[in-house]
This record gives sequence, structure tokens and C-alpha cells, in this order.
Amino acid sequence: MNQQQCKVLKNMEIARDYYELEFTWDNKSEPKPGQFLTINPNGVPLLRRPFAFSSYQSGKAAIIYKKIGMATKGFSVLREGDTIDVLGPLGNPFTLPEKRPLLIAGGIGLGPMIFTANYLAENSYSPILVVGARDKSLIPELNLNSAIKVNYCTDDGSLGFKGNVAEFLGSQRDFSVSDCEIMACGPHIMLKACHEIAIKNNIECQVSLEEMMACAVGACYGCVVETTLDEKYKRVCKDGPVFNSRVIKWT
Ligand SMILES: Cc1cc2nc3c(=O)[nH]c(=O)nc-3n(C[C@H](O)[C@H](O)[C@H](O)COP(=O)(O)OP(=O)(O)OC[C@H]3O[C@@H](n4cnc5c(N)ncnc54)[C@H](O)[C@@H]3O)c2cc1C
Ligand code: FES
Repeated sequence: MNQQQCKVLKNMEIARDYYELEFTWDNKSEPKPGQFLTINPNGVPLLRRPFAFSSYQSGKAAIIYKKIGMATKGFSVLREGDTIDVLGPLGNPFTLPEKRPLLIAGGIGLGPMIFTANYLAENSYSPILVVGARDKSLIPELNLNSAIKVNYCTDDGSLGFKGNVAEFLGSQRDFSVSDCEIMACGPHIMLKACHEIAIKNNIECQVSLEEMMACAVGACYGCVVETTLDEKYKRVCKDGPVFNSRVIKWT
């Protein structure tokens, strides 16, 4: 884990209220898919904000963030050449799957799943990526490795399958869910549905949680989730954010 001052290389709106922020990465620690960083909202008296990596190549990294509150509104006006105060990489990455990766992305979970899908494709996997959103205005054009099979689901049917990702998985015939391993990031309700699909098909499922965080380095216990383990509570920032879905006590 390292703190560094990164130069903004690009910051542009790629879908409604979704921005891609690309910045220099001089840190020797290479971010892995599923890991995250925190950014200090410059000039605003707020805690550092956590975001998952959406890409990393030698010398540069990126996040995809949704403009929702004070910090992210501030990030949305960053320009090329501005400096951001970054701490990372933080947390544990996804574990490489043993079966075909079935990646499920919803909402602000899109960034980490793009990174994971590209990383797996570059490492000889044939990932299936399912992207869910309310409507097509919330889905950016994706820069994906050609080995990735992408499927879109929208609640209003404006892009791809009409319905949510769970309904899509239940209805499609192109691949068998039971031959895959699920890796997912998105809203709690979507992650819970992914877990239930994994149980039903007797397959593994890793979920990346995006709980609210304070310190983001394991010190405050402000991000704990209830688990099925003997140690009842785990810190999302330090023990996660990626967990085997069977470890989480789903509510
Ligand atoms: C490990 C991790 C990875 C994350 N990765 C991403 C990412 O890749 N892209 C992205 O856009 N966001 C991501 N988030 C969420 C991001 O940290 C928050 O959206 C951000 O902190 C909001 O800051 P803000 O000051 O703009 O909004 P705030 O004013 O802090 O919040 C605005 C609204 O969003 C809600 N909110 C804030 N944080 C969260 C959260 N973590 N989960 C659910 N609701 C929240 C608040 O309750 C409030 O209603 C991640 C969070 C975690 C913990
Ligand atoms: S946010 Fe402080 S322990 Fe996780």
C-alpha cells in the first residue's frame, strides 16, 4: 500500500453520470482486478473515497466512477494535468477461477468487472461478461478484449435482454451456468441473486462488496459485514472486498 500524487491523464463522461478517470501510476505495486484505491477529495473536508480499479497498464491506471455526491462531483471537474492524492492498491483481488469465468457487473460494479474480464482474457480464459443497468444511457461503450463474450441486460429493454441479470441467466441457452464460476460486483440485491444462482447450480461465486468505508485500511471496523465464519464479522476493506459468496450472511 502506497500513497502517491498522480497526474490526471483523462477524465471524461462515458455514460450518464459515469466518468472514466485515468491517471499516472508510478507505484511499484501493480493493482490486481478486485483491488481498490482511495482518493482524497482535494479541498473538500471529507474522508478519502474508495474506488475499484477499472484498468491498469504499466505507468497508468483508471477507475470508472459515478457522480453521486460531493467528492465525485469534485472529481468530475478534474482536468488533464491536475494532481490527485491516491492511496493503494488496497484489499484482496479476485482469485483466478477454475472454470469458465461468468462475470456479472451492475451499476458502479462495472469498472472492476471490466478490469477482471480483460485480465482473464489476457490470461487465456474465455470470460462471459453480463452487464446490467436500468437503461442503455447508463452503459458506456466498453473497451474489451475480443475474447470476452458480452451480454447486456436493461430493465426497460433499451439494450440487450429486457430484465435483470438473474432473469437473463435463467433464460439464456448459449452457455451452461453450471460450467462456470461467478465473479460479481454491483448492488447488494444483485450479489445476493448471484449467490443464490451459484448455490442452485453448485458452483463457486466470488463477490466484491462496496460497503461504505471510513479509514479503508482496516483500523476502524466501520465497514464490517456479517459472515458465516467463526469470526462473525469481517472488514470489507482489509479482509475483502472480494469474498466467497458462501462466507457472507445474506440479508
Ligand atoms: C471497495 C469499494 C469500491 C468502490 N468502487 C467504486 C467504483 O469503482 N465506482 C464508483 O462509482 N463507486 C465505487 N465505490 C463507491 C464510492 O466509494 C462512493 O460512490 C463514493 O464514496 C461517493 O462519494 P461522494 O462524496 O461523491 O458521495 P456521498 O455524498 O458520500 O454519497 C452520496 C450517496 O451515495 C451513497 N453512497 C456513498 N458511498 C456508497 C457506497 N460505498 N455504497 C453505496 N452507496 C454509497 C450515500 O449514502 C449517499 O446517498 C466503491 C466503494 C467501495 C467501498
Ligand atoms: S473502513 Fe476502517 S476498517 Fe474498513
